[in-house]
Amino acid sequence: MELMDLMRTNRTYRRFEQTPVSDGIIGEILEAARNASSAANRQPLSYVVVKSAKKVAEVFALTKWAGYLAPEQGQPKKGEEPVLFIGVVENMDINKNCDTDAGLAIANMRLAAWAHGVGSCIIGACDKVKLSEMFGLTENQVLHTVVAFGYPSHTSRIEDMKDGNVKYYLDENRDYVVPKRRLCEVVKEI
Ligand SMILES: Cc1cc2nc3c(=O)[nH]c(=O)nc-3n(C[C@H](O)[C@H](O)[C@H](O)COP(=O)(O)O)c2cc1C
Repeated sequence: MELMDLMRTNRTYRRFEQTPVSDGIIGEILEAARNASSAANRQPLSYVVVKSAKKVAEVFALTKWAGYLAPEQGQPKKGEEPVLFIGVVENMDINKNCDTDAGLAIANMRLAAWAHGVGSCIIGACDKVKLSEMFGLTENQVLHTVVAFGYPSHTSRIEDMKDGNVKYYLDENRDYVVPKRRLCEVVKEI
């Protein structure tokens, strides 16, 4: 896929086929994270890979999906769950202000995955206390987010935002529609 098409279709996906993501693709996702830019090149991030069905189910139970939708619409149902999670961990001893690093690494990971047709969802709404314990994080380590991955079983498309309404919704086929502000609203030339 051409790069702009890849970025346009690299949306948030929230329902997945129950097909595993290969170790080769997981390796590329992690390599893409490692390659990301980092403030002062300090590289405070590390990653926790969760791919066994048992552990994925345990992490899934601590995550919340699609806050704008009713749970029965937005929460993945049985057989729709992601098949892989990657936790993004910040090391406070290396850099306390590294959310930009995390964002860049996550963007790289999601794009590397999507190049193989693997969709993803960043999950900020999760039980970080319980997940940090499960991941064996130490005092100086802060869980930024977990990113869920899998082969999507729905599509998602963007549309121009109307009346400032930022809420994504499902269309008649249960596919996601994501309003985006138009370029003329967010760009000025000086
Ligand atoms: C920092 C961050 C945290 C997010 N947390 C969640 C989350 O907890 N649950 C969820 O379903 N989606 C989450 N999302 C996905 C957003 O809802 C999604 O990016 C947004 O609706 C726009 O859709 P798009 O990614 O397809 O452009 C998160 C996205 C970001 C950037």
